[in-house]
Amino acid sequence: MSERGNEQASETTICWIEGKILPASEARIPVLDHGFLFGDGVFEGIRVTRRGIFRFADHMKRLETAARAIGLAVPGGFDEVARAARETTRAWGPRAGYLRLVVTRGVGALGIDPATCPTPAIVCIATGAALPDAKKAERGLDLITSSLRRPPADVLDPRVKSLNYLNNVLAKREATLRGADDALVLNARGLVAEATATNVFALTGRTLDTPPTTDGALEGLTRRTVIELAAEQGLSVREKSLGRFDLYAADAVFLTGTRAGIVAVGSLDGSPIAKTGWPVLHDLARAFDARALELSTPVA
Ligand SMILES: Cc1ncc(COP(=O)(O)O)c(C=O)c1O
Repeated sequence: MSERGNEQASETTICWIEGKILPASEARIPVLDHGFLFGDGVFEGIRVTRRGIFRFADHMKRLETAARAIGLAVPGGFDEVARAARETTRAWGPRAGYLRLVVTRGVGALGIDPATCPTPAIVCIATGAALPDAKKAERGLDLITSSLRRPPADVLDPRVKSLNYLNNVLAKREATLRGADDALVLNARGLVAEATATNVFALTGRTLDTPPTTDGALEGLTRRTVIELAAEQGLSVREKSLGRFDLYAADAVFLTGTRAGIVAVGSLDGSPIAKTGWPVLHDLARAFDARALELSTPVA
């Protein structure tokens, strides 16, 4: 979860915009872009390995589906968006990194009406892969339960990875203010949705549980890969609603995400979370590293 990797790589952060690659510090979005004004747009955070783009087709599908769900059409089609990701990755080079692929509603009137925005804006940023903080990973992250609930799907569907992340941002801020590494976010029914930008898993014996996306979680691609690997390793995997009780009762709790990777939870609201399941977790993390390479699409 450390941002150290980004800080180290900040000088090399690049951005594809209007067909050109620029240093990210020189890339500009107009102030009348509705992505900037209203968070009106969708994005993907994508892992880049030395072999290429991780689960590229799946990321593109998630992005395109989210865009369709909010009525955001790209006139040239999503091939242009995919091209932006490929060209950015090529410019980044064959090394680990992270892409932020963004499609905004584009420039329009100052009012919220998206019909005033004829042309979406496409941006792709590449930066260094975040290095895991070894000490933190060893101890496990300290989480608090956020006082903010995840909006229900009929308010803002979590399957739409939109630019409207204020709920996540404020939960993260609350965690920081309370001295924790991250926040567990519950839905309006008090069930576990996810953490601020990662999915949650609970391992009990050889059974691995993760909340269904209908409980407020993004359909994470790290999550999907972990589910596949766990099944291959003979674990019984269930998408099952979880309460805080289930996390305290588990043998291990961990988070998954493109930036975070697979990271164990050490405590929740000051109470320790069990570590007896960590050997299984470490097996999954090792298998994930190998699978990340296998599922990378070369761009050269
Ligand atoms: C809210 C949220 N949940 C979960 C995830 C993890 O998804 P993925 O594994 O696809 O990165 C993310 C990633 O950015 C996220 O923003």
